Amino acid sequence: MNKSRPVTILAIETSCDETAASVLRGSVGAKNPTFTTLSNVVKSQMKLHVKMGGVVPEANARAHVRSIRPVVEKALSDAFSLVTCHLPARRSLGVGGSLVTKVDYIAVTAGPGLIASLLVGVEFAKALAFASSKPMIAVNHMEGHLYSPFGESISNTQFLISNGKPKTKDQRPKIEFPILSMIVSGGHTLLVLQKNESHYQVLGSTVDDAAGEAFDKVAKLLGLPYPGGPEISKLAEAGQATIQFPRPMIHAPNFDFSFSGLKTAVLYHLKETYPNPSSPPLGEMSRFGTERVIEEKLQITKQNLHSYHFGHIPTQDKANIARSFEEAVVDVLVTKAIRAAKKYSCKTISLAGGVAANKRLRTELNLQSEINNLQFVVPDIRLCTDNAEMIALASYFKLRAGYKPVSFQKVQADSSWEL
Ligand code: KG4
Ligand code: ZN
Repeated sequence: MNKSRPVTILAIETSCDETAASVLRGSVGAKNPTFTTLSNVVKSQMKLHVKMGGVVPEANARAHVRSIRPVVEKALSDAFSLVTCHLPARRSLGVGGSLVTKVDYIAVTAGPGLIASLLVGVEFAKALAFASSKPMIAVNHMEGHLYSPFGESISNTQFLISNGKPKTKDQRPKIEFPILSMIVSGGHTLLVLQKNESHYQVLGSTVDDAAGEAFDKVAKLLGLPYPGGPEISKLAEAGQATIQFPRPMIHAPNFDFSFSGLKTAVLYHLKETYPNPSSPPLGEMSRFGTERVIEEKLQITKQNLHSYHFGHIPTQDKANIARSFEEAVVDVLVTKAIRAAKKYSCKTISLAGGVAANKRLRTELNLQSEINNLQFVVPDIRLCTDNAEMIALASYFKLRAGYKPVSFQKVQADSSWEL
């Protein structure tokens, strides 16, 4: 084992939902390496998305341009204000005696995602690295989600329980390899086998819509605002699973997913049960290829699809549809995750990504893990939805695995970077 070496990482992320920065300090190379999150700043873009009726890439990128500097400054000053003389906030990014000189590495999310948004984060981080002569770590956003459940089990950071007291060591989840990780977000649905801290292998992914995307699109069909996931799950609490929606690919002999057909099944159910005389019948739509037309309609950001496609949907029916849809998604995700965990003799199942904030999914996967004698870990809600703390975590684990940071010239944004 190498000698213990302290590392301090500034991580920057510009995803489609937030501008974020975090500072982590830890040790690598030691027998029991550990770390503490010193700061975690998230500036949400949700209000903008709600106003626009969804994510508009150009508006998203402009919002990052406005937020990135104050967000990074706050992450640095939150992290170091206790250990440095009080520098004026405007100096915290400047070179020479400023806060950025206190970090060893500048990490940034380089993909996957919306290219204009990624570029804001990547170019800002590169400029900072150039000005302060710091090496960089390019991180895959999904790798951030992958390592997010490790935060609580291994770090020194205090995690509070509901009464405000810090969790004791016994209250923190233990992670044992091999791990079956399920990452469910707005853009991805992945099953990943983590053999040890540094080796992972993707077992399956979605062939069309991601789970979060399906939540968002079905929410739109029901006339609910963006982001749809939390809205659907809130509504589902008042509903019952009265409709048997399909469970796509649940029995397929692989670990891939498909949620596009489920979304279409909800659309057909709505059109047939609550017809709107002013909207074209399904037959007419399918002249152009029903799926394509649905896609086009779902892309329209400001249009209220609900009033376009359907007649009045009683509130209780909406709740039942939400609940039935949620159960179908959860059923597929849990069934396939447990099957993969058993096939690869995993000891732990971990759940991450924005959809991991879904209560029914957390509860059901926890229950099935217990039944199957598997340890279950899921991060705090704040680490499920996008944030930079998970990017700092992923960078830290890369360093622990021997990754060599690179010069800023080597870092490029890649919108379709695969895990
Ligand atoms: O990981 P994330 O924050 O961003 C991406 O990387 O995509 O995930 C966002 C997705 C959105 O589709 C959102 O609707 C979904 O996570 N989501 C939920 C819940 N909270 C967020 N889906 C279901 N139930 C929730 N409670
Ligand atoms: Zn994400």
